[in-house]
Amino acid sequence: MKLFDVYPINNIAIDKAKGSYVWDDKGEQYLDLYGGHAVISIGHTHPHYVERLTNQLNKVGFYSNSVKMPLQDELAEKLGKISGKPDYQLFLISSGAEANENALKLASFHNGRKKIIAFKKSFHGRTSLAVATTDNPAIVAPVNQTSNVIFLPFNDIAALEACFKEQGNEISSVIIEGIQGVGGINVASESFLQAIRRLCDQYGSVYIADSVQCGYGRSGKFFSHDFAGVNADIYTMAKGMGNGFPVAGIIIAPHLQAKHGMLGTTFGGNHLACAAALAVLEVIEKENLLQNAAEVGQYLMEELKKIPQLQNVRGRGLMIGFDVPEQFKDLRKNLLWKHKIFTGEAKPNVIRLLPSLALRKKDVDQLLEAIKEEIEVSTESIAK
Ligand SMILES: Cc1ncc(COP(=O)(O)O)c(C=O)c1O
Repeated sequence: MKLFDVYPINNIAIDKAKGSYVWDDKGEQYLDLYGGHAVISIGHTHPHYVERLTNQLNKVGFYSNSVKMPLQDELAEKLGKISGKPDYQLFLISSGAEANENALKLASFHNGRKKIIAFKKSFHGRTSLAVATTDNPAIVAPVNQTSNVIFLPFNDIAALEACFKEQGNEISSVIIEGIQGVGGINVASESFLQAIRRLCDQYGSVYIADSVQCGYGRSGKFFSHDFAGVNADIYTMAKGMGNGFPVAGIIIAPHLQAKHGMLGTTFGGNHLACAAALAVLEVIEKENLLQNAAEVGQYLMEELKKIPQLQNVRGRGLMIGFDVPEQFKDLRKNLLWKHKIFTGEAKPNVIRLLPSLALRKKDVDQLLEAIKEEIEVSTESIAK
């Protein structure tokens, strides 16, 4: 049997990983500033994570949501404390798309409405509602097309107000990434998030904070939406939550009420998933990783801004992007193949950095040196 060929892959087989490094099957070492789509939050194969998962697997790996799950209560307690939202309610699933799917559905159950506001350049996943709220027609199948989703320009308060004024009583929810990831590292302004909160309150709509990529400490705060000083009604999370184990969640404000059978899943919140999520939070807390993400992120951003050839350096914490001018278009490729550094991209010319929250300054320096060398080499070859 062949694999269904949907991924353009790099010809590298990763065989071993530790902290911010991975090694291929030939023993070559790479600096990982991408974390496999922003997933590696506490570092690869962290000893506490490996131990907690191993111990859990030796006890019980899985049972479904038909029995009591003390580990889920433990996770909810810890997540409430670290995220600063102790009065929210936790529902566990297994992927980011599933988190958004359930959030959008729950909002609609709550207010009985159908319309959703999403934003240009958004990415919310590939399942039916998640993809319908994603601004990329190429990945929306005909069966997923719906007139219930309204796409508005990002960070445009006037457009948002106008839309609410016209059809606010029909809007079930507004879904927004605090920092757009796939769309190219675009930070939602604080005033825009505050306007969403105000309008959702005024019209009885649900504010959904997609924190799948920008959440879980990546921005230096637990949720990047926290920078605006307002609370969303539902936060969706995945990626960094399990440091590679497929676990995702939505946390739900107290005024949204649960009913038996309203949402459900087979795999979500199983024993192993909870152990992974707990291990991540324990390491985030013990190693002060939010502070590290803020500090090392600031250093990285400041140093990148000093390189005049890189344009629009932007982001927060360890979620950083910059535009690469046409003359240095091979930069990302050369960082990987010549300097052995993994980075991410966003079309057409953005390099995205999404490293572990435990990244050290010396790793940043390795990247900066490589970028400077590449820029020098390209500039010289153009001059010749
Ligand atoms: C902001 C955001 N939301 C949702 C998703 C979908 O997550 P998953 O791939 O786990 O379904 C992603 C994935 O990249 C994402 O970046």
